[in-house]
Amino acid sequence: MPVSDTTISALIELRRPDGEGLVVQLTSQLRGLIATGRLGKGRALPSSRRLASDLGVSRNTVTYAFEQLAAEGYLEASPGRRPVVTIDGGERIEQAGAVGADDRAGRPRLSPWAAKLQQADWPTSYQGQLKPLRPGLGDFREFPNEVWARCLRRSAVHAGRRELGPVNRRRLREALAHYLATSRDVRATADQIMILPSAQAALTLIAATVVSPGDEVWVEDPGYPGAAAAFHASGARVTGIRLDGQGMQRMPGLAAPRLIFMTPSHQHPTGRLMSLARRTEFLGASRPGKTWIVEDDYDGEFHYDSRPVPALQGLDAHGRVFYVGTFSKAMTSDIRLGYLVAPTALVGTLDIAQRHMGLIASSHIQEALAEFITDGNFLAHLRRMRRLYHARRDHLVEELERHLGGMLSVEVPPGGIQLVARLKRGRADQAVVKRLVAAGVETRALSSLAVGRPCDHGVLLGFAAWRESEISAAVRTMASCF
Ligand SMILES: Cc1ncc(COP(=O)(O)O)c(C=O)c1O
Repeated sequence: MPVSDTTISALIELRRPDGEGLVVQLTSQLRGLIATGRLGKGRALPSSRRLASDLGVSRNTVTYAFEQLAAEGYLEASPGRRPVVTIDGGERIEQAGAVGADDRAGRPRLSPWAAKLQQADWPTSYQGQLKPLRPGLGDFREFPNEVWARCLRRSAVHAGRRELGPVNRRRLREALAHYLATSRDVRATADQIMILPSAQAALTLIAATVVSPGDEVWVEDPGYPGAAAAFHASGARVTGIRLDGQGMQRMPGLAAPRLIFMTPSHQHPTGRLMSLARRTEFLGASRPGKTWIVEDDYDGEFHYDSRPVPALQGLDAHGRVFYVGTFSKAMTSDIRLGYLVAPTALVGTLDIAQRHMGLIASSHIQEALAEFITDGNFLAHLRRMRRLYHARRDHLVEELERHLGGMLSVEVPPGGIQLVARLKRGRADQAVVKRLVAAGVETRALSSLAVGRPCDHGVLLGFAAWRESEISAAVRTMASCF
């Protein structure tokens, strides 16, 4: 159905306010409107000034998108005139069908899932070598590699004697069920636990299994972009829910969504802890069979200031919660292991989906990890890292206050591996991050994690992976950049 001038901007949904990503998103969405015939041949688009103002982006963003589409043959653009669509969507799709899998511009024609995933992908500011204070990491230099190597060796030596076949190894499922029950108050049998290559794989699996195109999904705003991307790619309408001091707010005025994604242990990125009362409220408002909750406990092992609040999953008596965890933070990001505790009613379905999507972790590594956990090495490592990360968090907070107290206001998280420092003046965290990265300090702009509306500007700083001397040096470098 062709659309009017005023509707064009309403059909475009730009998900993050960062320069490069916006051009890609805008180009891809305009291309989609042309390809589906909603903007027909001969149709003049709004001027770059008007579209930029309607979408709340810079004029350059729109100009770059127009130039790209003109280069691809979708638009004719001449200076001082509104660009005109040069292709008829229906005709183009027929032609593309006739020549095979490519579109007329010679690019592979993508499934809706892949096209949406491209829109949702986010540019990273991290490049090349790891630098302080990159967020999202535990300290892999402190990982007990010798102990782990012994577990791996034994697992390999015993491989010939093991039962072939189970995708989720029983020893590891049992070890994890015990660890999660005693440390995180998760209530699950070993059969509910699926071992996956990452937490991200768990989110993809959940999205593929319970989210249909058009479903409403709530995510935290600002939040973890990997979750928003997984649900957006499944065709969901992803809505960012604002935070308060306890993380995601309850939204009693809105109709209950299909799924709510949250990080209640330490909200990503702010680190805020959701109280027991708020967790219970969310559960009370999520009707069994209507709304699923995904609890992403990506760094829940690291609490410093208080006793951990029980996992939402363990409070749920109706099997509405998916509990997601990862070993990327608790051990080392290279280990590539995560897990999902599935609601009982979905175990069979998820089991089939896991096999067909091939989201299977190596049996050798699963067996090695089972031994690492049952021999007490995992808990010993966590205890040591908790002490170390606690001291590093305090050190980073002190250094930021001493050297940058006038510029940054630090939100001290009760746990986790990173913190947010807001800019006291100005609203240009992207520019600040560029300067910091060029000077050798890796951070992420808080505004790049906004889901819907613009959020505060600030920087996300990792503390867990960095020694106190590295933290001090990085903060001095930061101070020279402000
Ligand atoms: C909130 C959150 N969830 C999930 C993940 C992904 O973990 P994994 O590396 O296991 O995919 C991350 C990674 O940074 C994260 O920050």
